[in-house]
Amino acid sequence: GASAVRRDRFSGGPARDFLSSLAADERIFAADLAVDRAHVVMLAEQGIVGDDEAAEILDALESVADAGHAALPDGEDVHEAIETGVIDRIGPTGGKMHTARSRNDEVATCLRYRLRADLLDAVEATLALREALVETAAEHVDTVMPGYTHLQPAQPTTLGHYLLSYEQAVARDTARLLDAYERVNRSPLGAAAFAGTPFDVDRERVADLLGFDAVVDNSMDAVSARDFLAESTAALATAAVTVSGLAEDLIVFANKGYVDLSDDYASTSSIMPQKKNPDTLELARAVAGDAVGDLTGLLTTLKGLPRAYNRDLQRAHDHTFAVVDDVTAALDVAGGAVATADWNADLLAAEAASGFSTATGVADLLAMAGLPFRTAHEIVAAAAETAAGDTPDLATLDAAAETVIGESLFDHVSESRVHAALDPVESVASRDSVGGPAPAVVADALDSAEA
Ligand code: ARG
Repeated sequence: GASAVRRDRFSGGPARDFLSSLAADERIFAADLAVDRAHVVMLAEQGIVGDDEAAEILDALESVADAGHAALPDGEDVHEAIETGVIDRIGPTGGKMHTARSRNDEVATCLRYRLRADLLDAVEATLALREALVETAAEHVDTVMPGYTHLQPAQPTTLGHYLLSYEQAVARDTARLLDAYERVNRSPLGAAAFAGTPFDVDRERVADLLGFDAVVDNSMDAVSARDFLAESTAALATAAVTVSGLAEDLIVFANKGYVDLSDDYASTSSIMPQKKNPDTLELARAVAGDAVGDLTGLLTTLKGLPRAYNRDLQRAHDHTFAVVDDVTAALDVAGGAVATADWNADLLAAEAASGFSTATGVADLLAMAGLPFRTAHEIVAAAAETAAGDTPDLATLDAAAETVIGESLFDHVSESRVHAALDPVESVASRDSVGGPAPAVVADALDSAEA
């Protein structure tokens, strides 16, 4: 057939393997068959091919589908190989399948069709992670723990508040993926090479058969555009960065004994018999690096490409497929690790006030009593410096006040209130501003996250 002639004439030589995307195209094998079917149905409906011819082609496509990707004849890519497979089965009539289209609109359609499903898998993984975070947070609304900035003890918070901070971040990742999905879900088919076709094609019908929301209108844009890959990959890389932060925290918390990962999400050492290592989370942390690298590779490939189709594009989408697989797996692992982890609430509570993390609360108390916040800050800082242990006692705080303002602390606030401010449970409960860690506020936030 014609394609055999074309194959003999072009690129049977040493560059054959370099040109071919057939192996990698396994990813879009099923998508290409779906695209072929929809196109052939439309061609028949429009009277561009006969009904009998269309039926023959559809039967041949079914046989190609049953045989599988591995059984495809040789070809420069999956589109050419499937067409050859159809022609091998039914003869020259198979050559009518490629009427009124090009591989350029075909591949762009296949990529969008496949990526749509992959993005939904990623979205589901974000939902599972959010569910694990919310369910664990619900158990720990009152569990006080140390909160950190610069990895130094900063202010006491609750485990519920901490976990919901990630739930909110992952919720934005979900939203970004769904936003990308909307623009992925458009059909380029019918654009042909870039310049449209004289055949009376029904692009909307093909889009509809393939479940796309609409067509990519301009035929030159339809074959050239890969920004749908860029924004999907960027949304995925951003989600990977979110997961990497969560993974890092959990690794640090496991190190401190705050959290015990399930054995299913840990690994051991081939030599040190006692080891339980957070390997799954380390790998999840590493995925972000690869995702950022692939995003950079993709954008760099796309940068400066002229209109319309250029073969560089064949090297673009593999970045996105690699990232969507990795990031979905990392999200799944993070969700599983969170859902199955045991938190050491007693140790978290015991450590919640370490490093004088209640200091800000004492300064806030003095400021609420009318001292300028900067003066209150100075008094508490002076007490922290002279304290014997890491948290000053009431006498030390009082002495610091005498030094800084020449008055007793207790002329301004009662001993019992200062005492309460040094208690991490009271400290957390007092911070009931919008979105704060006070259990009453976290309980509300939990309600909206659950919804
Ligand atoms: N395999 C190509 C790709 O993935 C599509 C084929 C278009 N080839 C061409 N020479 N116009 O981008």
